[in-house]
Amino acid sequence: MAHSPAPHDVLRSFDDHDWAEGAATHLEHLVEGGHVLHFPALAFVLRPGEERFLDPAWSDGRAKNISLRAGTLRGAHGDAAALAELAALISRYAEQAQALVERLFPQYRGRLRAGNASLRPFDVEGRPSSWRKDDARLHVDAFPSNPMAGVRLLRVFHNLNRDGRPRTWRVGEPFADLVERMAPRLRAPWPGSAALLRALRVTKSPRTPYDHMMLQLHDLAKADLDYQRNAPQAAVDFAPGTTWIVFSDQVSHAVMRGQHMMEQTFYLDPGDQLVPDTSPLHVLERVLGRPLLRRPA
Ligand code: SIN
Ligand code: FE
Repeated sequence: MAHSPAPHDVLRSFDDHDWAEGAATHLEHLVEGGHVLHFPALAFVLRPGEERFLDPAWSDGRAKNISLRAGTLRGAHGDAAALAELAALISRYAEQAQALVERLFPQYRGRLRAGNASLRPFDVEGRPSSWRKDDARLHVDAFPSNPMAGVRLLRVFHNLNRDGRPRTWRVGEPFADLVERMAPRLRAPWPGSAALLRALRVTKSPRTPYDHMMLQLHDLAKADLDYQRNAPQAAVDFAPGTTWIVFSDQVSHAVMRGQHMMEQTFYLDPGDQLVPDTSPLHVLERVLGRPLLRRPA
């Protein structure tokens, strides 16, 4: 098992310049070990006429991203012909991200499920938000309405900025360190709360004890300004034209600056990992000393 990297050692760089072909492969141990795989020469090439879609004016003003899932475009407005072109752009990104992960992670072939692909046109710094939604604070990804029940979030990002601006992240301490630090503050869910949240349609499926713990890790980190300032961390610049891949439910991250990004989410069962022990589910269960999912007998 790869040891979990200190923040300044999180990045692993590869010189690939083609999505479908290249020397890099069998990188499961690195990405599962908490590294960010970094491809500074792997560009997503816009076709003539597509640059106009970088304008935030294509957003419908409600969603913060323009996303595509199962062929349906969300969060954009415009005439039908333009929206079809915008959907084609995002769909091309989804295909290239798929080719890339299949090449890099042979172990996951046929097991990764594609979620949303999105174009994120807004300037990171102009985005008003509550502390809980503020992704400029270090966090691991966990979402109140979307219980994952242990399923992993693997994300392929690309900086599409045309003005030379990097996307600047901070990356934090290894997941096990975060769990150990927060463990004294982690509370079990109230009995019956999962059924209540489901009945009230706060969640799309029952919030498992695993999801409850992940949300607390997310919220405790974001709400703790001392943690934000003093936790182990390193700044990372992703230059325009850079692609990067990370398990965002595991690697603590924050976005500080940048504009124009593509993103594709993949889901993976922890049992399909090369080393399932590195999953947030297993780390949480190990540190807390109890099961966090009801598994079929
Ligand atoms: C996040 O997942 O926290 C957002 C990353 C980004 O916008 O660069
Ligand atoms: Fe995040």
